[in-house]
Amino acid sequence: MKHKVSIIGAGMTGSTTAHWLAEREIADLVLVDIVEGMPQGKALDLQEALPVVGKDVKVVGSNRYEATADSDVVVITAGLPRKPGMSRDDLLTTNAEIVRKAVQETIQLSPDAIFVVLTNPLDTMAYLAMKVGKLPPERVIGQAGILDSARMRAFVGMELNVSVENINCYVLGGHGDEMVPLTRHSNVAGIPLRDILPANKLEAIVSRTRKGGGEIVSLLKTGSAYYAPAAAVAQMVEAILKDKKLIVPASAYLQGEYGLKDLFFGVPVQLGSQGIEKIIEYKLDKEEQAMLLKSAEAVRQTTDALVSLVKF
Ligand code: APR
Repeated sequence: MKHKVSIIGAGMTGSTTAHWLAEREIADLVLVDIVEGMPQGKALDLQEALPVVGKDVKVVGSNRYEATADSDVVVITAGLPRKPGMSRDDLLTTNAEIVRKAVQETIQLSPDAIFVVLTNPLDTMAYLAMKVGKLPPERVIGQAGILDSARMRAFVGMELNVSVENINCYVLGGHGDEMVPLTRHSNVAGIPLRDILPANKLEAIVSRTRKGGGEIVSLLKTGSAYYAPAAAVAQMVEAILKDKKLIVPASAYLQGEYGLKDLFFGVPVQLGSQGIEKIIEYKLDKEEQAMLLKSAEAVRQTTDALVSLVKF
């Protein structure tokens, strides 16, 4: 049976997600947006591209949620992107209302769907989605860790001139400037990064990774990154639809793991047909643990701010 994936928000990230997903030929796609004609136009354009690349996928665009009925996965990218000088948290109240509506509308039509959330501030929006949808925690996943890890992998690749396929990086923590690139666990073809790169180069890569989203925002001036975030979502959706049991870093609801509770936070998770099927706990040293707690504190503040501003 063919799967169905609905993407709420057909802006840069949403439409690029549709593009990456169509290439994978794993589901029919629905794009929903409030702008009249835009999701229809993008869907039709993508549909017309698919004969060229030989993919049999139906792509529908709509301004109405009815089109999303019976989706296996709902991706939420609706919201405002960051502008230069804005932090992800500045988007809190505006995006909270947008995400709330997207979840409430879609959950009625697809009660069994798994939700992948991209809208920023990411960890807090995933928390909101779980609360307003009254969803079991395993069915809400925030996309951030694959993206942050991919940025680090890209920077390591640029430095060492080695295939990105050989580079494994793991970035945990909140999707903000306090994120935690785990250099001890990251490696090139099994050789720890710390043994390949001089400390100053590694530190520069860690710092650039942490500011990776902001670097793109400053360059674009009118929006935020979309190719890499969308590619990360496509990998997550594929892992779910194909029940791959793929371990990736992603934002998950923690209930005591890593000593944290009642928080969405970036940790290694195993993705399969049930959504998050397992949260993997790495053994962290003291320094890593301290960085993780610092990052958790930042996410906690935004989540608390949301709870005080928004009724669930
Ligand atoms: N319902 C549906 N779509 C909406 C709604 C809504 N209530 N409100 C806004 N949108 C749509 C906008 O019309 C726009 O097309 O969401 C889309 C967002 O697209 P872009 O402005 O291109 O932003 P994008 O770069 O895709 O980022 C979207 O993802 O990565 C995060 O920080 C980013 O929170 C931002 C989100």
